[in-house]
Amino acid sequence: MRVPGELEVSRRGLLLGSAATVALVGMGAGMGTAPPAQAASAQAVAGESPAMPDGIPVMSKVSFTVNGTARTLQLDTRTTLLDALREHLHLTGTKKGCDHGQCGACTVIVDGRRLNSCLSLAVMHEGDSVTTIEGLGGPGDLHPMQAAFVKHDGYQCGYCTPGQICSAVAVLDEIKAGIPSHVSADLNAAPRLSPDELRERMSGNICRCGAYSNIVDAITEVAGRQA
Ligand code: FES
Ligand code: FES
Repeated sequence: MRVPGELEVSRRGLLLGSAATVALVGMGAGMGTAPPAQAASAQAVAGESPAMPDGIPVMSKVSFTVNGTARTLQLDTRTTLLDALREHLHLTGTKKGCDHGQCGACTVIVDGRRLNSCLSLAVMHEGDSVTTIEGLGGPGDLHPMQAAFVKHDGYQCGYCTPGQICSAVAVLDEIKAGIPSHVSADLNAAPRLSPDELRERMSGNICRCGAYSNIVDAITEVAGRQA
């Protein structure tokens, strides 16, 4: 049975509590404090776990082939392919430049197509075949593109070079497959192998040292041998 006084106190308390809450939210907005929804999205942007607010990572298994070897990793689902290669498989030939898809230093070849590995989650590559610079060739057994970069001095510091070479190998396959680029004059004709085509197709790979003309020479030589 309710006591009238208790109901009165409870109702007043509820009203006071509501008023205080409204005032606090108002103050928070005025002081620049983000409401909960905004705070959650800011947290996601900052790279914290969007799925588990308590910060516990969500782990998942991924199996793929890297440079011809089957690999299985247990990864935080937020791990990029780049970090899986570098931090978990210790294949540090693939470089992290911008980590934002802007420089191409992290380029690898996945199922025959080049990819910025910093923009792709590792768990998206279940069953894929990944080739890194280590898989193309090594000392004493250089891939023709690696040898051409050495011959034509297609690098200075070398930081962008693994990405440049992986990209260049895939570019020649794209041209061979008849895939047009932004500068192809006729989208229905087989793309011509010109310096303009190569520069356009390689434009996602930035070289801070400016070795571009030598890079084009190296790719042109390999393309000529393949023709
Ligand atoms: Fe991936 Fe720069 S590190 S594009
Ligand atoms: Fe130094 Fe390209 S060789 S950034």
